[in-house]
Amino acid sequence: MRTQVGIIGAGPAGLLLSHLLHLRGIDSVVLESRSRDQIESTIRAGVLEQGTMDLLTEAGVGARMKAEGALHHGFELAFEGKRHRIDLTGLTGHSITVYAQHEVIKDLVAARVADDGKLRFGVSETSIHGIDTDTPSIRYRHEGEAYELQCDFVIGCDGSQGVSRASIPQALRKDFERVYPFGWFGILCEGPPSSDELIYARHERGFALISTRSPNVQRMYFQCDPKDSVENWSDDRIWAELHARVDSHDGQTIVDGKIFQKNIVGMRSFVSNTMQHGRLFLAGDAAHIVPPTGAKGMNLAVADVRVLTEALNAFYVENRTDLLDSYSTTALKRIWRAEHFSYWMTSMMHRIEGASPFEQQLQVAELEYVTTSRAAATVMAENYVGIAGAHA
Ligand code: DHB
Repeated sequence: MRTQVGIIGAGPAGLLLSHLLHLRGIDSVVLESRSRDQIESTIRAGVLEQGTMDLLTEAGVGARMKAEGALHHGFELAFEGKRHRIDLTGLTGHSITVYAQHEVIKDLVAARVADDGKLRFGVSETSIHGIDTDTPSIRYRHEGEAYELQCDFVIGCDGSQGVSRASIPQALRKDFERVYPFGWFGILCEGPPSSDELIYARHERGFALISTRSPNVQRMYFQCDPKDSVENWSDDRIWAELHARVDSHDGQTIVDGKIFQKNIVGMRSFVSNTMQHGRLFLAGDAAHIVPPTGAKGMNLAVADVRVLTEALNAFYVENRTDLLDSYSTTALKRIWRAEHFSYWMTSMMHRIEGASPFEQQLQVAELEYVTTSRAAATVMAENYVGIAGAHA
């Protein structure tokens, strides 16, 4: 089999790239190890930056996001028993939409299927060959048969543990990493929203986040030991912890509901430099990971794909390679800005085991600053909506 662009991984990066290339008349095949059902139900974050919303809309896959997602013009920072609003739209002119990542996945898969896009689910033993040549290929097994997909380019969108990054020789790559000694316990529950906007809370007991999924389903998180087990947390214990961390001194409280999903995620920052080698390019989690605070993960994947689409288009339409050559450098500017922001928000809001009282007061001083200084609030807001720093 032959295609122009072979894409490994049907997450947001791989599916969106395939769709955007199709709109430019460029052929691609997407190979995914999981089933369609699995990718459409994996629960991840849910904040779409302005640029992500705009791109999905321009690409004709934004209708359900617009209808079912919630447009938010601000969020709240809770600390020392009080809530403080960050006015995203007032400070930046931009906003965000709360819409779950797996819903974006469903919309992209539906679009690819409607356009007769080539998606292969449940593939195994995927390997990449000839990336130093102009004729790379991907070998894989599907439904018991062995295949080789010949392509002009291989795009690795297969996440942090995938084969793609490992196919760039280690000697040509530098990995940057930070592992945080805490995780997030996430729940989905039935019930109305606790607040009109997201609440990020810092408390001596640890961080908590109140988000939403729909008028009847809410998403909440609280900092936990990443090695803890969901079995240790009864619903009552979870609600007690969330109330202790988020409720305000003036009586503002969160709304309990029936919990129907619990999970624990670890937290890590990671950047691979470089994101390209020969005819292999990495996008999304295959190249970089952020801790979830600020929900930049999918937005960075979308930003990578935007750059890569232009670069591949310039190659096919104008026979130009300059945008492909500069892909890594261009994408990494935005990635490092988001890496810093995610690390900063994480560090300011989490309970850090062993932190001195002095260091704890610095966290509060920083939160006081971003909630009282317009300049500091703008720093937070422009990073949150995704317009800060270098643009991809
Ligand atoms: C959500 C996740 C995040 O990491 C965040 O910063 C905001 C919202 C969410 O899942 O809704």
